[in-house]
Amino acid sequence: MTDDLLLALDQGTTSTRTIAFDAALAPRATAQEELPQHFPAPGWVEHEPEDIWRGALATLRGALDRAGGEARRVAGIGITNQRETTLLWDRATGRCLHRAIVWQDRRTAGHCARLREDGVEALLTERTGLLADPYFSATKLAWLLAEVPGVREAAERGDLAFGTVDTFLLWRLTGGRVHATDATNAARTMLFDIHRGSWDEELLRLFRIPAAVLPEVRDCAAEFGATDAALLGVPVPVRGMAGDQQAATIGQACFAPGMVKSTYGTGCFALLNTGATPVASRSRLLTTIAYQLEGKRTYALEGAIFAAGAAVQWLRDGLGIISNAAEAGMLAAQADPTQAVVLVPAFTGLGAPHWDAEARAAIFGLTRGSGRAELCRAALESVAFQTHDLLEAMRADWPAGAETVLRVDGGMVASDWTMQFLADLLGAPVDRPTLKETTALGAAWLAGLQAGLCAPPGAAGSTHWRLDRRFQPTMGRDEAAHRYALWQDAVRRTLTH
Ligand code: G3P
Repeated sequence: MTDDLLLALDQGTTSTRTIAFDAALAPRATAQEELPQHFPAPGWVEHEPEDIWRGALATLRGALDRAGGEARRVAGIGITNQRETTLLWDRATGRCLHRAIVWQDRRTAGHCARLREDGVEALLTERTGLLADPYFSATKLAWLLAEVPGVREAAERGDLAFGTVDTFLLWRLTGGRVHATDATNAARTMLFDIHRGSWDEELLRLFRIPAAVLPEVRDCAAEFGATDAALLGVPVPVRGMAGDQQAATIGQACFAPGMVKSTYGTGCFALLNTGATPVASRSRLLTTIAYQLEGKRTYALEGAIFAAGAAVQWLRDGLGIISNAAEAGMLAAQADPTQAVVLVPAFTGLGAPHWDAEARAAIFGLTRGSGRAELCRAALESVAFQTHDLLEAMRADWPAGAETVLRVDGGMVASDWTMQFLADLLGAPVDRPTLKETTALGAAWLAGLQAGLCAPPGAAGSTHWRLDRRFQPTMGRDEAAHRYALWQDAVRRTLTH
């Protein structure tokens, strides 16, 4: 049998993994490596490009080996990645001129504040759907051009290539032959006009970015080039590419307008498919590209919250009151129902829809009777409350849209208690799929689509999504409203502006 494997390479913020899927999109083997983090100054976060590359290659080889596969059986590689993280390298040598500046890095906060003062944010939002925040690539790339000696001149001569992680990996995999990205990753740079689907010359001038450094932008399912034969034994085609949250949206099969997914890792990212319409947010959500297939863009509203699983990690590593994440759910179930302890997990500020970088975490409602169980319940509930904030903002932005079923994935969805509370609070069903690795699944699907192994959205047999469990709301609406009001009050008391 030939062409019966799809390799999904998922390069995330803290780890790199490859999952080998068969042609029916069942996972066959996984290989994973941690990615070292570098914090050279307060608020700075960097990755070593060679670590990113080593991890990618090692896990591609590892997953292929474990699947018992040969490279010539691979119908395509799908790349998915931590978004916005910025790299710049020499086209001649392939070497990066600086460590990757990670999406979490705040070093360009001053630049973003100046953009807001200069009244440029409205233009940025109109063109790119984003906000003037260091999160996105443009100010990171501007920083590299301004601060690393010799870089501006080399970039202007056309000697350098810029890329997010997808682009860097593609360049390395193809032996420096292909400098390309996909529309979802381009949409996170703050240099890309999401309406026209092209790099924006006015924004390039604003950030002083020479066009010569930019990659070509392709569909998410496309021929991205073949890997260098020396890497996997034979050339293997790269056929799929999408930012990780967009890949999870695809993995969750959120292909129809109104469908919404929420991924719970360290933080949480919710994306609402708004179809062919880019919906401008009045609630400080982001407007972004969900995917681009056959030149057609599908848009999403996106809400990002910074602490989901991080709140449980804090219970374990900061307070030491649980020894593993599963214990939090068990204790939460035993909490005193008459207590109203509320945790606002603003450990690194609050993301959407508040965007308050200065806010810090706070606990309200403690009594002498409050203990481990009440704190665990408060931490898990905070994840549901924040999701509710995002969905409310989505409804406000797009009243026509938001369907009432939420599809969830990521590590935290293993907690039945949390998922039940989420359904109770939202007053809507919460669907958990059988395969939790939806990001990798989305990347494999894109490669499979291009290879002709997977059917396009809406076609017969196109469903790669299977339900594990639907959580139905059981809490009375009055009680849910009362609980949510306590949360909103706690947030008001935590915000700094
Ligand atoms: O926008 C950042 C996001 O893509 C990071 O995702 O899963 O690598 O933390 P993750």
